[in-house]
Amino acid sequence: MKAAVLELLKKNPESYVSGSEISRTLDISRTAVWKHIRALREEGYRIESRSRRGYRLRGVPDLLIPEEVRAGLTTRFCGRTYYHYPLLASTNDRAKELAWQGAPEGTTVLAEEQSGGRGRLGRSWHSPRGGLWFSVVLRPALPPVRAPEATFVAAVAGTDVLRTCLETDEIGIKWPNDFVWRGKKLGGILTELSGELDRINHLVVGIGLNVNLDPGAFPAPLSGTVTSVQEIRGRPVSRANYLRRILTALERWYLVWLADGFAPVLAAWKRYNACLDRNLRVSTPEGELAGRAVDVDRDGALLLDLGGEIRRIVTGELFMEGDVG
Ligand code: BTN
Repeated sequence: MKAAVLELLKKNPESYVSGSEISRTLDISRTAVWKHIRALREEGYRIESRSRRGYRLRGVPDLLIPEEVRAGLTTRFCGRTYYHYPLLASTNDRAKELAWQGAPEGTTVLAEEQSGGRGRLGRSWHSPRGGLWFSVVLRPALPPVRAPEATFVAAVAGTDVLRTCLETDEIGIKWPNDFVWRGKKLGGILTELSGELDRINHLVVGIGLNVNLDPGAFPAPLSGTVTSVQEIRGRPVSRANYLRRILTALERWYLVWLADGFAPVLAAWKRYNACLDRNLRVSTPEGELAGRAVDVDRDGALLLDLGGEIRRIVTGELFMEGDVG
């Protein structure tokens, strides 16, 4: 009902809506109207009240609370079950707990801030307020060997949204899962799997995106190697808009993956890639290699030409010539 009160105020941005009108429209008491207004104010909505005129919405909080995210979200399942936290150690960890407890497919966990955000290869992930840090539970009926493909699904979905919203095709994907702009990192994806030998139980796809952040304020050695949506755009943006769009694109590409397999996802990934046909170094668990990235295999492995010999790289980190940092 609180959401319905908010909806009414949002529909009338230019005028006051009286308490009696809200009470009549929603069939609730005047006391209930007042309680919902108070609860909304506590969440950070700026609601002006004038005697004999009513209430008027003056400002929405820059928090990704359910009411803000759900308004205008048209997905079937991604983000439909939504958990919002001011602070978590890691959204991936919370999403995994919820998945074990039976959370439905598409369940999304978002934290305004993470104190123990995790990146790939056991790294930590700097996650202050102002970014988008969230994880989505997926339950594809596929064998575990295909789980890494989900990272490509999320990478393509995220790039679609970033390119559209930022109106530039300079956003690319650095293998396997970094969102980059002009060689600087804008975000990343951490996919984690729970499964048996022959079937995935659930996947948790964690997406981290530097949105309304000042890259200069990142701790060394990150600052200088990272960028943010705010930096590219030149001003802060609506994080709720980016979140809704990414959830929508993620659901769309996930359904393509389930219906048509990995090929269309990989084709889109190749269009968006920022690393093929380039000389680079790859740090792998077996050591560092230098070569030319020539292709990505049918299963997502990077094919590196070491000067005649083609090596398949399944896990590692790329450093491209001209990379910052
Ligand atoms: C990487 O590029 O190393 C992957 C970074 C993934 C970060 C996101 S933020 C939301 C989710 N929760 C985490 O602890 N990590 C992922």
